[in-house]
Amino acid sequence: MFGLTRAKKAAAVLVATAAAASTALIAAPAAVAAPQPIVGGTTTTAATYPFVMQITDASQDQFCGGTLVSATKVVTAAHCMVDETASGVRVVGGRTFRNGTNGTVSRVTKIWIHPGYSDTTTGDDVAVLTLATAMPYTTASFVTSSQTGVYAAGTTARIIGWGTTSSNGSSSNQLRTATVPTVSNSSCSSSYGSQYIASDMVCAGFTSGGTDTCQGDSGGPLMIGGVLAGITSWGDGCAAAGLPGIYTRLTTYSSLVATQVAS
Ligand code: ARG
Repeated sequence: MFGLTRAKKAAAVLVATAAAASTALIAAPAAVAAPQPIVGGTTTTAATYPFVMQITDASQDQFCGGTLVSATKVVTAAHCMVDETASGVRVVGGRTFRNGTNGTVSRVTKIWIHPGYSDTTTGDDVAVLTLATAMPYTTASFVTSSQTGVYAAGTTARIIGWGTTSSNGSSSNQLRTATVPTVSNSSCSSSYGSQYIASDMVCAGFTSGGTDTCQGDSGGPLMIGGVLAGITSWGDGCAAAGLPGIYTRLTTYSSLVATQVAS
């Protein structure tokens, strides 16, 4: 959910860049990209992505996303759930707008957090919620542990969520989606150093930035070939050039998740 202080560093760099561009009188306006939603992307609906769930507090204020993988099981990020209790969380399906009142609201009967989780930058950022009420929506399938080929660098991945449309910006009222290419382990290691753990994480984003998940998108899906392959986890700022988004590498956890989904 609300992220790293390092997000501020990237935002400060962007502001400095914008200021430099505006002092250079002949700078082309196009050189300063306008903040765009998820960051980048387009509005969409819960009907288009019925497996995308809002994870909310008891007042139905959305703070993370999740993916419905069976009628009563939702995959999300561990970091979304660490400070939560089952009684304090709701899962909302079928609701396109954060301020909507439609759809299906369920209580949570169990929160499973990966036992190895301590911080997004150390991996294991996965959790599974068990719902009290079955969701009447189409579920997403998730990768099996052997499907590691889905992350081949340059593969198109879809991101979906209600998160902020710029670093330190406001959440989107309407659900948004975009596509981003997966990034190789070597490239992501160059971006993030030892905080990128290739066994547990996968990066996605354009070299030039501009399209990314951002605060509030966490826990939501990274879909590859229509299958849940990642979970929005972290990044340094949002959509900055050379700093792709980082997603939980779900193939590493699919057996554990499958056990939770079957329980
Ligand atoms: N940690 C954020 C959240 O909790 C997600 C940040 C994703 N950042 C990125 N640059 N892709 O919502």
